[in-house]
Amino acid sequence: MGATKLVIAMVGLPASGKSTVASKIRQCLSEEGIEVAVFNNGDVRRELCGASETACSDFYSPDYAEGVALREKIARINMERAADFLHGKGEVAVLDATNVSRQRRQVIKSFFVGYPIFFVECVNDDPELVSASISRKIAMPDFAHLTPEQAEEGFRERIRYYRGLYDPLADEENFVVLDSLHKRIERERVQAVLPHYRIVRDLLVSDWVQNLYLARHGETVFNLEMRIGGDPDLTARGLVQAQSLAWHFKETPLPYVFISTKKRARQMAQRLCDGRQDCRVIPLHEFDEIDAGVCENMTYDQIARDMPQVHSARTRDKYNYIYPGGEGYATLKERVERGVKKALYLSGNAKHIMIIGHQAVNRMILSHFLYRRTEDVPYIYIPQDRYFHIVATQWRKVFELVKFMG
Ligand code: F6P
Repeated sequence: MGATKLVIAMVGLPASGKSTVASKIRQCLSEEGIEVAVFNNGDVRRELCGASETACSDFYSPDYAEGVALREKIARINMERAADFLHGKGEVAVLDATNVSRQRRQVIKSFFVGYPIFFVECVNDDPELVSASISRKIAMPDFAHLTPEQAEEGFRERIRYYRGLYDPLADEENFVVLDSLHKRIERERVQAVLPHYRIVRDLLVSDWVQNLYLARHGETVFNLEMRIGGDPDLTARGLVQAQSLAWHFKETPLPYVFISTKKRARQMAQRLCDGRQDCRVIPLHEFDEIDAGVCENMTYDQIARDMPQVHSARTRDKYNYIYPGGEGYATLKERVERGVKKALYLSGNAKHIMIIGHQAVNRMILSHFLYRRTEDVPYIYIPQDRYFHIVATQWRKVFELVKFMG
């Protein structure tokens, strides 16, 4: 048992972000040359019982003795596999399972005597995100034999069963409780010297993105007229831009494309995903363009002429200025940040994701990943024939503007 060996045990309800965190830990540590493996109880369950057999919520009922015994067995198989790994050249074993009861955690502690154990509890009670995560889970083949309603209700029931058994982390020697949406540590206690603790602690709180392609919708009539807001369609040139973006990305897997709820973003995504099976388009209202309030649908010239006070106040302090009845950059920040958190949460640890947004929104997204002085944010250049490629992981930071049209 060398000093570099560590057991990380995930804790949390289904759909609380555990597997995403586990996979981040795996990727990050292996990038550091550390021998790491994730042992997921769901994988063993599928191996032993087949995918659909255990999709029903009854299997998770604490009153269903057979299910309880089977789940204990699955946990033990994974612990044995993890122990074999650690006895060999494995350095970090991540147990990816709910582990919500004190009793289950006691079993883990007794099993791995001599190894330091670091419990990482993921919490996320945001109802909208829990719903979105459930929709993603029930799209898996495990649930193919159920109607979407049955699958969703079953999954919610499963969560309720686990909630009934839940003992939050308290008397464990080493643990963190992570708000997995906001990447915030809510509580922690680390009493032992844990190998790899610093790198793991840092990655838990980092917004990670392997490849984010941040594009703006193509040209609209409003853009031609210098008119703001509204819900215009793409022009013929905007559609050509959309097509060019699609060609540019034809070889790149795009499992998640987040867009605003506006037509121009949707039309862009339609071209991009046309004929592809791998694209899931998710509209988020958090990515809607800045609301210009009483100035919506006006041209910049009209605003300067008819509302000179708006024009001059905005010119004086564009970041803090709030349109009457609408938003400003400063007030947009919170909603866009929430959109980014949501997109990262929903896409799990996907290798490639895209966001198709708008001028002001994309400025805020960019400044989320790359520091800019607030007064400069409203002037960041957001072209319609290029996208930003952003990589932000522990070992790699990339920030490049890529042209997709000649
Ligand atoms: O002009 C296009 C647009 O997306 C408008 O809808 C929006 O009000 C504007 O850009 C935001 O940019 P700025 O803050 O520079 O006016």
